[in-house]
Amino acid sequence: MKIAPSLLSCDFSKMGEEIKRMDVCGADWMHLDVMDGHFVPNITFGAPVIKTVRGYTDKPFDVHLMISDPLKYADDFIDAGADIITFHIECDSDIQQTIDKIKSRDVKVGLVVKPNTPASAVFPYLKDLDLVLVMTVEPGFGGQSFMADMLPKVAEIKAEAKKLGIEMPVEVDGGIGAETIAKAASAGVDICVAGTAVFKAEDAAKAIAELRAN
Ligand code: DX5
Ligand code: ZN
Repeated sequence: MKIAPSLLSCDFSKMGEEIKRMDVCGADWMHLDVMDGHFVPNITFGAPVIKTVRGYTDKPFDVHLMISDPLKYADDFIDAGADIITFHIECDSDIQQTIDKIKSRDVKVGLVVKPNTPASAVFPYLKDLDLVLVMTVEPGFGGQSFMADMLPKVAEIKAEAKKLGIEMPVEVDGGIGAETIAKAASAGVDICVAGTAVFKAEDAAKAIAELRAN
């Protein structure tokens, strides 16, 4: 299992140092939650902030766009150093154009589904994706409870991908911790985002190692 600490739970006054700390603690990817106050009822940070912290690690930047118009801003996030961009199928941009735009710049692309969106919504785009992100909380805030009833989506996505002759990595985001990650692992999840469970732990390295052991 790959672990992507969500910087949403870090100390924003020293975000660069926090990224470096996560690198040393064994994070696989850095998960950066971008919220625009419109697609979700919260605002975090944008491309200029990501650019300033890009140099603190060589690990992949997994940029989760919770914004209404990802097509408009994709270039900015790519220029800021995103390695993977995931955006919501529920957004207002043209989905295919946004996928094509991101891929044209050699950045990995994934679609995200909110809890009320069925997994089948991403099926028409699967052949063009590098991963799918299944939300296990309503997007917008860290520290919410894990929705285990989202896990059947993982097998649905993987089965549909298999029909197309491809393998699709699936990431889950929200409420992942020592107790919930085993369920995600047995559902076949490849990458787990974890905010609270890593940043509120006394020993982040130990927390990441324990999560990853699943
Ligand atoms: C929620 C974000 C998540 C969040 C996870 O909108 O996409 O990445 O930070 O935080 P925890 O692990 O605390 O649920
Ligand atoms: Zn996220």
